[in-house]
Amino acid sequence: MRNSKLEHLQPYPFERLRELHKHCEHRGSLDHIPLSLGEPKHPPPSFVVEALADAQALTTQLGIYPATKGTDELRLAISDWLQGRFGISADPATHILPVYGTREALFSVAQALLSGCAGSLVGMPNPFYQIYEGAALLAGARPLYIPNLAENDYRADFTGVTPAQWRATEMVYICSPGNPTGQLMSLDEMLALIDLAHQYDFVIISDECYSELYYKDELVPCSLLEAAAQYRGGSAQRPFERCLSFHSLSKRSNLPGLRSGFVAGDATLIQQYLSYRTYHGCAMSAHHQYASALAWGDEAHVLENRALYRDKFAAVTKILAPHYDLRQPEGGFYHWLRTPIDDLSFSQRLLEQQHITVMPGTFLGRHLDEDANSGNPGQGHVRVAWVAGMEDCVTAAQRLAEFARSL
Ligand SMILES: Cc1ncc(COP(=O)(O)O)c(C=O)c1O
Repeated sequence: MRNSKLEHLQPYPFERLRELHKHCEHRGSLDHIPLSLGEPKHPPPSFVVEALADAQALTTQLGIYPATKGTDELRLAISDWLQGRFGISADPATHILPVYGTREALFSVAQALLSGCAGSLVGMPNPFYQIYEGAALLAGARPLYIPNLAENDYRADFTGVTPAQWRATEMVYICSPGNPTGQLMSLDEMLALIDLAHQYDFVIISDECYSELYYKDELVPCSLLEAAAQYRGGSAQRPFERCLSFHSLSKRSNLPGLRSGFVAGDATLIQQYLSYRTYHGCAMSAHHQYASALAWGDEAHVLENRALYRDKFAAVTKILAPHYDLRQPEGGFYHWLRTPIDDLSFSQRLLEQQHITVMPGTFLGRHLDEDANSGNPGQGHVRVAWVAGMEDCVTAAQRLAEFARSL
């Protein structure tokens, strides 16, 4: 016996990248600089490290079975953060659920909320963070890819979705700032999607894990919950109806190893999701909850972190702009770089010549029409993650410039 749904899963982009690079080798003497993985490399806040290293507190915390719902302190810290950052009033008791990082939550929310009925659809951007697709497939739904095309300024184009497709849709993932495009979704775009969610009865899952990394103070990423609070078509008794927003400490606070995030929004959905999670057994440990509450309560380290990314983008842009069709992302830490040759060869040759790894866009997208094998919106792009320190990023940008000259 075997779970046949597993057979529908696509190889993960990093597996495909390893395969692509199997026979590529850098024969020179340059150090390898990986720019393919979005793993934050800035230092974590020292007060979080110190809190985790407190042996006396840890002794107590390790002796506790943590509650799936999280501690009151953590949910309160998150609620305060939502109020301060987005002006959202979320009740810590009913609107907020701590999760073990957004990745597991973006996956498990589909298992918890989808019907499993044949023919149901889950919308998601294309290109995308592949967890959305795996989540839909393993929950027995089919992915509905919504293209984010260069000609549409990398915005999700919902106009191509037919009424029949909307009727079959149970869930839509959005990602703002987008991975890999760096594009933000505006409040008006979110309001329009909420309208569709009410019209066609689906849930919106908003991945906002990059919300604190942005490049213009006049263009600050908004939350789906801000739009939901402004939406006038829903029920007054059910705030944030059909809307869930996902946040993480991984990028905001450089704590990818802490595995800490939260889901906030519609209390009815949070309740259903909580009952699923009680069985799933993925409560965040007490010391991580304690450290997370401290991290959500501090903005100084977030400002510092954002400033580091801004400085890096300014430095690498200066080096790359004469050689590439470059676009500053509105948020996140990736350049979604158009490649002068096809993206797979670009990635292979870059590794061989300059010992740099980037992620080909082809691996992050899906063909728009599988039968016709028509264009994959990721093609002709590579995703460059500027996560390393300034020195490595500048060296990598210089090598990328040199590589462009060699083409
Ligand atoms: C778009 C997007 N969503 C979610 C995640 C998961 O982040 P975490 O599980 O660390 O919160 C990532 C990580 O790279 C991501 O790029």
